[in-house]
Amino acid sequence: MINGKIAADRIRNGDDKKKGWNVMTAYKDRSTEELLQLKDSLEAEYKKFQERGLKLDMSRGKPSKEQLDLSMEMMDILNSDTDLRCREGVDCRNYGVLDGIQEAKELLAAMIEVPEDKIIIYGNSSLNVMYDTVARSMTHGVMGSTPWCKLDKVKFLCPVPGYDRHFAITEYFGIEMINVPMTPEGPDMDMVEKLVSEDEAIKGIWCVPKYSNPQGITYSDETVRRFARLKPAAKDFRIYWDNAYNVHHLYFDDQDVLIEILAECEKAGNPDMVYKFSSTSKISFPGSGVAAISTSYNNLKDIKKQMAIQTIGHDKLNQLRHVRYFKDLNGIMEHMKKHAEIMRPKFEAVLDTLDRELGGLKIGSWIRPKGGYFISFDAMDGCAKAIVARAKEAGVVMTGAGATYPYGKDPHDSNIRIAPSFPSPDELKLATELFVLCVKLVSVEKILESRSSAA
Ligand SMILES: Cc1ncc(COP(=O)(O)O)c(C=O)c1O
Repeated sequence: MINGKIAADRIRNGDDKKKGWNVMTAYKDRSTEELLQLKDSLEAEYKKFQERGLKLDMSRGKPSKEQLDLSMEMMDILNSDTDLRCREGVDCRNYGVLDGIQEAKELLAAMIEVPEDKIIIYGNSSLNVMYDTVARSMTHGVMGSTPWCKLDKVKFLCPVPGYDRHFAITEYFGIEMINVPMTPEGPDMDMVEKLVSEDEAIKGIWCVPKYSNPQGITYSDETVRRFARLKPAAKDFRIYWDNAYNVHHLYFDDQDVLIEILAECEKAGNPDMVYKFSSTSKISFPGSGVAAISTSYNNLKDIKKQMAIQTIGHDKLNQLRHVRYFKDLNGIMEHMKKHAEIMRPKFEAVLDTLDRELGGLKIGSWIRPKGGYFISFDAMDGCAKAIVARAKEAGVVMTGAGATYPYGKDPHDSNIRIAPSFPSPDELKLATELFVLCVKLVSVEKILESRSSAA
């Protein structure tokens, strides 16, 4: 078990001579003549792919149909004969219960390791909760502080590469985003500590602390503790802790462990500094799951003031359906093992192809995650857009290059997010073969180009 830390050997730099897969000569060490020949043969291979008329999608992290089928029995849990009262006797068909039925609080609190009285159950999407949280801070401020819309400048820290939809929220509200590089242990904490303590305009940081999107990195214990001990210049600074992949292991006997941030913040004397978000989107049905926020009593009180205006209560029938289907944390974990059975071979197919085809060539690096939904690939600088475009021209749609950075701007034009979940294993094999071909082709072109401009 890896204690909140990504093992160094999960990072494939594509240049480590000790690895068994590394038997090929790096492209940069080949003669121009050899590279020109290679380019011709790669182009011929690429043409063949184009002629096949592929139509594959590796762009978004959606569960496959097979994964959605795992939860179908949930559809039979409630019917017209079912007693639709929750444990406290409330008729779930009717209005009421603003912050979620007790049994749903217990289930989700157990899943994200927080006390059941420090949680609000929302509707179907955690992204929606994050949007609401930023929107409320803009219009009404955080626990009595000045609404952000009345300030000259509001900034957010964005660990990169990161989740495009987080960045889209802050961009939408005109919040300035500052890139913070990810390390194998989480965001660069020296930078986070410095910026947060010096700049009062910094009001938040986006974090995906476990099996991060897109790198699959889990923050180390030390990183979490450093987060908890932050001394922000802004009293309304909050950590946006998006725990989307808390139970999404690929290997149940070899999991990452993330220490619990709410408790750490309390211990460090910063109980109000974090909002923890989660949902069952990639456990049951994305778009029809149950979302939640967990935070301090002070923050919960602040949030409920707005919530009471916004809604009379979220979908309690769906909460009931989830609770009666999963029953408890053990039910969720058993269910996640079934997801892992489907996901693991797909991840391994992609990763093994990357290792086999690109190992030793020094034209990219990638990480072998132990969970989550993505594989992050870093191409040579200046190559990502061209690789994604090449893949698209041959029928494979990838997440747009740049999407993993604020404003869609990857300063190195290097990072590409691979989403292995949706295609079938056969499709995935084909798509990855095409992907590595595009990586090779674009890299050869790049090296030849730099040689000819240097000549
Ligand atoms: C990090 C992260 N957070 C949130 C979401 C979306 O969650 P929800 O469906 O609960 O809105 C995703 C979906 O890909 C994600 O990757």
